[in-house]
Amino acid sequence: MIKLIKSTFYNEKATKDALCKFIKESEKLSIGKECADFEKSFADYQGRKHCVFANSGSSANLALIQALLNLGKIKKGDMVGFSSLTWSTNVMPLIQLGLNTIPVDVELNTLNVSSKTLLKTLKKYPIKMLFITNLLGFCDDIDVIAKVCKEKKILLIEDNCESLGTVYKGQKLGNFSLASTFSFYVGHHMSTIEGGAVCTDDGNLDTMLQMVRAHGWDRNLTEEKQLKIRTKHDINSSFYSRYTFYDLGYNLRTTEINGFLGNNQLKYLPQIIKERENNFLTLAKKIYARTDKYYPIRYDHIDILSNFAFPVICKSAAIRDGLVKKCENKIEIRPIVGGDMTLQPFFGKYMKKYLHVNTNSNAKLVHEQGLYFGNNPELTKREIQEIVNVFVV
Ligand SMILES: Cc1ncc(COP(=O)(O)O)c(C=O)c1O
Repeated sequence: MIKLIKSTFYNEKATKDALCKFIKESEKLSIGKECADFEKSFADYQGRKHCVFANSGSSANLALIQALLNLGKIKKGDMVGFSSLTWSTNVMPLIQLGLNTIPVDVELNTLNVSSKTLLKTLKKYPIKMLFITNLLGFCDDIDVIAKVCKEKKILLIEDNCESLGTVYKGQKLGNFSLASTFSFYVGHHMSTIEGGAVCTDDGNLDTMLQMVRAHGWDRNLTEEKQLKIRTKHDINSSFYSRYTFYDLGYNLRTTEINGFLGNNQLKYLPQIIKERENNFLTLAKKIYARTDKYYPIRYDHIDILSNFAFPVICKSAAIRDGLVKKCENKIEIRPIVGGDMTLQPFFGKYMKKYLHVNTNSNAKLVHEQGLYFGNNPELTKREIQEIVNVFVV
């Protein structure tokens, strides 16, 4: 069986040995220096000023939406666009926090929202914010999308949980917007077992994210920022300042174990991306050439393609169902990410009024005719051949 996820870490044995040693020798395992070091290194890697490390990509999404609400950049009841083809916990925090969620369709040949699908949505729905998902390492014309959003005063944020490391027109995905989120879940590009982050260049947003991540208090802020917020709220006593809660928050903190892993794995990230990109290109040339069976995915506009699962969109549901049978006990497969979110029960329950927005969408076609299998650095030549035998021959 070719598993979706073949290892927990890159360089698994050495990483586990180093982790055991780190745990044995550490006095403190709650959030501290390792996490702070990782935040700095990850922000540097991404080319952003700030990074807030959280305990999952889902938590990063939740923290970002809450922080934007706390800052008044969006407000309850606003219409927010999201990519129809995404993961549940991209849309769920929007619903949980009282926003009206408008699905924006994707292009079939990039699996992503384009300026064209966005403009079509805007004709009917005056969205205040777009929470775009960069799906599976791909993007469409996100540079044009960013321009459209700027012109129309739509706040743009990116869910980059699936595209860490992709470079489009010389710029990393995750850097086209005010802020972007990342996942370090096993099987994504880089693993801290569980983990996620928000990156931004906006200092106020960074400050709010620090408070949202931990109880709404100011403990993780710099002394200067603490003084400012305490003065504003008239908190003069160091006794009360420890338990003063300034705005709505959660506990989405991570631990030194995850921080250590982030620092350990980040150094392998360029290599991980390269190996996955090589696998992708080898497979894409063969699989997407079968245009009689599959819709080809376009990737020639992307400079570096950071992909961790290989999407196959069949020309009919019957072809897809045939592949599902062929893969049984051979190749572990899944629907493409969460599929069309509007077809998920939760969307119908809470956002019934927007169910009609994208009927007969490309996202629906992908939901009904798509699947993916894992693309990880440990795929062997023999396994790649086995995949080709199932999908091409
Ligand atoms: C687009 C997208 N957003 C958010 C998440 C959530 O990340 P996590 O699993 O780290 O909570 C995922 C997870 O797979 C994802 O694919």
